[in-house]
Amino acid sequence: MAIDPVKRFNRWFSEARRAGIPLPEACAMATVDSRGRPTLRYLLLKQASPDGFVFYTNAQSDKGEQLRNNPAAALAFYWDATGRQVRIEGTATLLSAATADKYWATRPRGSQLAAAVSQQSRTLFDRSRMMAEYRHLEKDSEGRDIKRPDYWKGYSIKPRRIEFWTRREPRLHHRELFVRRNGEWTSRLLQP
Ligand SMILES: Cc1cc2nc3c(=O)[nH]c(=O)nc-3n(C[C@H](O)[C@H](O)[C@H](O)COP(=O)(O)O)c2cc1C
Repeated sequence: MAIDPVKRFNRWFSEARRAGIPLPEACAMATVDSRGRPTLRYLLLKQASPDGFVFYTNAQSDKGEQLRNNPAAALAFYWDATGRQVRIEGTATLLSAATADKYWATRPRGSQLAAAVSQQSRTLFDRSRMMAEYRHLEKDSEGRDIKRPDYWKGYSIKPRRIEFWTRREPRLHHRELFVRRNGEWTSRLLQP
C-alpha cells in the first residue's frame, strides 16, 4: 500500500481542529537569508495536498526575497491538545496569478485593504499615515472589488521530508520520518 504522509497530515489537522485548538493552521515557517542564516515567522496554512503546503504573503517581504534567492523552506506545527508536532521541509514555488486571485476574492475586505497598503517588512516611519492610506482606500473603493496587488502571492512548499511526532510518556516520544525520493515516500522511526 502506498504511503501518503500528506493524507496523514490532513487527518492530524482535522483532529487538532476537532480538539478545539485555536488556529490549528498556524505554523512556524523558516527560510534562510543570503548568508545562510535562518529566519522564522508564523503563517497560516491554507491548504495541504501532495503538490504542496500553501500559504499567502507579500512576495516583496523579507521572506519573499529570501525564497527568491533560496526556495528552501521548513514548516513546524505543534498541537498541544493532541500532543502532536509535524515538521515539513521542502522547496517553495509561486502559485499562479489565477490561483492567488481566487483565494484573494475569499479574504475579508479588511485583510485585502491591509495587504494593499502595507509594504510588508519595510520600515514603518509613520503609523498614522498608513492608517490614513487604509481609510482613504476603504472609502475610495466603496462598492467595488479591491484588486489583488501584484506582490501579494501564494506559495506552495513541495515536501521532501515530513516528520510526525507524538507525545509519549515517559518522554520517549514517537517519531516517524517520511522522505520522498523519485516521487516515492519511505518512512522510518527516529529515536526521540
Ligand atoms: C498566527 C499568525 C499568523 C500569521 N499569518 C501570516 C500569513 O498567513 N501571511 C503573512 O504574510 N504573514 C502572516 N503573519 C505575520 C508573519 O508572522 C510575519 O510577521 C510577516 O509575514 C513578515 O515576515 P517577514 O518579515 O519574515 O517576511 C502571521 C503572524 C501570526 C502571529
